[in-house]
Amino acid sequence: MSSDPSAQHEHVLIVDFGSQVTQLIARRLRESGVYCEIHPFNLVDGAFLKRFAPKAVILSGGPASLTDVESPRADREIYDLGVPVLGICYGEQTMVDQLGGDVATAAEREFGRADIEIVAESDLFEGLGPVGARERVWMSHGDRVESLPDGFRVIATTPNAPFAAIDNPQRRFYAVQFHPEVAHTPRGGEILRNFTHRIAGLKGDWTMAAFKDEAIAAVREQVGASKVICGLSGGVDSSVVAVLLHEAIGDQLTCVFVDTGMMRQGEADEVVNLFRDHYNIPLVHVDATDEFLGNLAGVEDPEAKRKSIGATFIDVFERESKKVGGAQFLAQGTLYPDVIESVSFHGGPSVTIKSHHNVGGLPERMNLKLVEPVRELFKDEVRALGRELGLPDAFVARHPFPGPGLAIRCPGAITRDKLEILRKADAVYLDEIRSAGLYDDIWQAFAVLLPVRSVGVMGDERTYDHVLALRAVTSVDGMTADYFPFEHDFLGRVATRIINEVKGVNRVVYDITSKPPGTIEWE
Ligand code: XMP
Repeated sequence: MSSDPSAQHEHVLIVDFGSQVTQLIARRLRESGVYCEIHPFNLVDGAFLKRFAPKAVILSGGPASLTDVESPRADREIYDLGVPVLGICYGEQTMVDQLGGDVATAAEREFGRADIEIVAESDLFEGLGPVGARERVWMSHGDRVESLPDGFRVIATTPNAPFAAIDNPQRRFYAVQFHPEVAHTPRGGEILRNFTHRIAGLKGDWTMAAFKDEAIAAVREQVGASKVICGLSGGVDSSVVAVLLHEAIGDQLTCVFVDTGMMRQGEADEVVNLFRDHYNIPLVHVDATDEFLGNLAGVEDPEAKRKSIGATFIDVFERESKKVGGAQFLAQGTLYPDVIESVSFHGGPSVTIKSHHNVGGLPERMNLKLVEPVRELFKDEVRALGRELGLPDAFVARHPFPGPGLAIRCPGAITRDKLEILRKADAVYLDEIRSAGLYDDIWQAFAVLLPVRSVGVMGDERTYDHVLALRAVTSVDGMTADYFPFEHDFLGRVATRIINEVKGVNRVVYDITSKPPGTIEWE
């Protein structure tokens, strides 16, 4: 058996030209049971194509203009593979250009919602409206196709893009000027499914049950009889990795849970109970609160806080892991978006907005090899795998929680008192969200204790206490987010409970900033 679980499934190759939404193509395909990988256009050559052997190829959108001197192109061998090819936006333009058509800068850029009119029957639009029907789509382009290569015909138009969708059914080449992968193209998922299932004939054999068995076999093959250390954070990713590894290699796995003292109420106990008592996984529980808070004393700058916590984490983890002794592997919950970010030709974000806390540098320092069994999965797939492994639903569906924990929800210097106030208020807020049945509608909800005091009156007494901000957002992947539109009654109820129950808070505000321009966390 191959050590790569994905190798046993029908593959689709997504050639990345750097669009902000390329990842969404992969997500849509995976949702319909199709395994796919994203690779930057400049790494896809003949040798790669031979090795990867895709059953279909999708050319993504991208920021370049074909009229630029050095604009990127797809490897020509893609068109000789004999497999279906779908070009999206820039992908359409490069396909047209390479196969002999013309592309020019459009007089007007088209950005946002548009309605295409279907003008010919095509397998790509099977199940959508008949010829003459209109479909809402999302456009974002500056260039447009002016003339088609031989063998192609127009299958949809807009007033601004006469070649909004084209095909060459004999060669199974399809291309669209719009973005079927985004939510703003409501029937986009069906269009992509038509391409993969109907045109390319894929069965959709990518299921979590199959992935689980294959991933377990792959871990056994990689690790053999060696010992593995896994850092457990209480988050979904590391928890799923721990349970998967335990199922694969039993007691060869030891988990190390570092309690930073900046977890939420009851969280540390929950993690220890679940893993040590329920799963019987050998677990080292280190309460390093004093060390973390000691190193953080007086530190106010957000980046300095993150760096301090990251460095303390590495020290504690290394020390405790060495006590376990004899491990040759370190297991990590690296996800596919992290992998794409690090190989993507346009690189990750060019400026560091926030330095995320992870175990960077540890494997080299401790001379450990990495086990990353979920590096091919998106967050929602990790959740599905967790359910497949029998992790409790409530645990798997938990909101993401950042590595530096409550420290980045407490602007300014951290003290035990502030953490305690924040923990209590946060627990009341989440309790109300759960009672209202809203938890699963929200990507992340939490409280932030502001370094500001305000005057209030309780009974006949003047108060001078902290201001607490409530944050709740909806998001697909944490990259962009909208604030959650709570009913006013709900917010009023939460504010009253917090002020009554949490000593030290006398004013509550709700954060209505979206991302961008805000970020989800406050620091
Ligand atoms: P921001 O605040 O950048 O957060 O909009 C996006 C998502 O990432 C989480 N986050 C982190 N997760 N370590 C993590 O593991 C970190 O240092 C970290 N900082 C932010 C944040 O909670 C949100 O889900």
